[in-house]
Amino acid sequence: MSHVPARAPARSTSRARLRAVLVGAVAGAAALGVTVTMTPSASAATTLGASAAQSGRYFGTAVAAQRLNDSAYTTILNREFNQVTPENEMKIDATEPQQGVFRYGDAERIVQHARSRGMKVRGHTLAWHSQQPEWMRNMSGTALRNAMLNHVTQVARHFRGQVEWWDVVNEAFADGPSGARRDSNLQRTGNDWIEAAFRAADAADPDAQLCYNDYNIDNWNDAKTQAVYRMVQDFRSRGVPIDCVGLQSHFTGGSNYPSNYRTTLSSFAALGVDVHITELDIRNAPADAYRNVVNDCLAVPRCKGITVWGIRDSDSWRSGESPLLFDGSGNKKAAYQAVLAALNNGGPTTPPTTPPTTPPSTPPSTPPSSPPPGNARCTASVSVDSWTGGFVATVRVTAGSTAITGWNVGLALPAGTGVTNTWNAQHSGTSGAATFRNVSYNGNLGAGASTSFGFQGTGAPPSATPSCTAN
Ligand code: XIL
Repeated sequence: MSHVPARAPARSTSRARLRAVLVGAVAGAAALGVTVTMTPSASAATTLGASAAQSGRYFGTAVAAQRLNDSAYTTILNREFNQVTPENEMKIDATEPQQGVFRYGDAERIVQHARSRGMKVRGHTLAWHSQQPEWMRNMSGTALRNAMLNHVTQVARHFRGQVEWWDVVNEAFADGPSGARRDSNLQRTGNDWIEAAFRAADAADPDAQLCYNDYNIDNWNDAKTQAVYRMVQDFRSRGVPIDCVGLQSHFTGGSNYPSNYRTTLSSFAALGVDVHITELDIRNAPADAYRNVVNDCLAVPRCKGITVWGIRDSDSWRSGESPLLFDGSGNKKAAYQAVLAALNNGGPTTPPTTPPTTPPSTPPSTPPSSPPPGNARCTASVSVDSWTGGFVATVRVTAGSTAITGWNVGLALPAGTGVTNTWNAQHSGTSGAATFRNVSYNGNLGAGASTSFGFQGTGAPPSATPSCTAN
């Protein structure tokens, strides 16, 4: 089975990469040109990997090196999947157990198993607060920063040409409403540690796709999701080499599949990065939730593929929750059938477009609660997601029957409410009232066209209807 190349590199920071963009774009268009003539329903693919490949995507799994000796395991792996992520073997404690001493044996076994069968490899992960070797855990300051950068450089260079995507940085944001970075020894080396890691990875392997990966960034309204979104937006605007965002999507315990997951995927994608579902598992493996995840990915052209975090329930890091597609005996579960059918129904998608050089003028958002009247020069509506002590508001601005070149939205705020972050607009205002003005890329709206911006606040969410003035 040949895997359709799905590369649409977002970075263009080196000559090598620019070449890769051109070659990849031509090859991708040619391959997709063939694919679109297929009728998936007439010849439904019978494995996860083949059915995902019909739309140029991959379907992968985490793989543990020690399980490669288990033939029941490798039978399913080789039959069903066309992408693998080493579950633990590329983590810092595995690859640099003593400072300056690098061990690649287990990771290489997995890479070799995968690549010799045409499966793509996701490298996981170069910089992370967890699964650090003892020596690194005890370091801080400049010594730690340098050790981290050396680790990123050595490991990315070692696997150059073999790893399609790297999770350069994993789990760097805090849970909860703060939207802050997670405290860690790496974070304490300075807020720029993430971009420093990406630049080091880019220098070490200019052709790999570089991803930021995290959990609990699935719900578009979560402060953590918004914080990661703003970091990616900032990286893109400043030319920090980032190509993709990985949503781990462990839908278990504290977080369930959110109904706005597709909005999250498409919103990240609108920043000009690819999105990947990197560690999917769902408590008790409900077929509906698995189907929804697949359909959401298929609906977003830049969603490049899905990786489940293990093959059989017995292989799972959460084996007690039976969250995977195969039972402990290797039988296909109902969730497997739902995923396969969804992949086959999804059919081909259009080839990815060239990444925008400026942010899009109409980023996706939650739809307005009521249609705007058509007689004003512009109208605005707000939707809010709140928690105790805070909220995220998404405001949709719509032009009336004539085009406008700029807008101002006014919004009354409850006493004590403050605005802490704003995206896709400029905020000003006093207590009790906030004003939001368009930014350079979203002021021009054609007749009837709309755009959206958002802000995060502390205190009670706004309940008033926003006003809109056009210029
Ligand atoms: C997990 C592995 O599955 C376990 O075997 C290991 O003991 C701990 O790590 N987020 C990640 C993954 O990015 O690396 C984690 O993998 C699961 C959560």
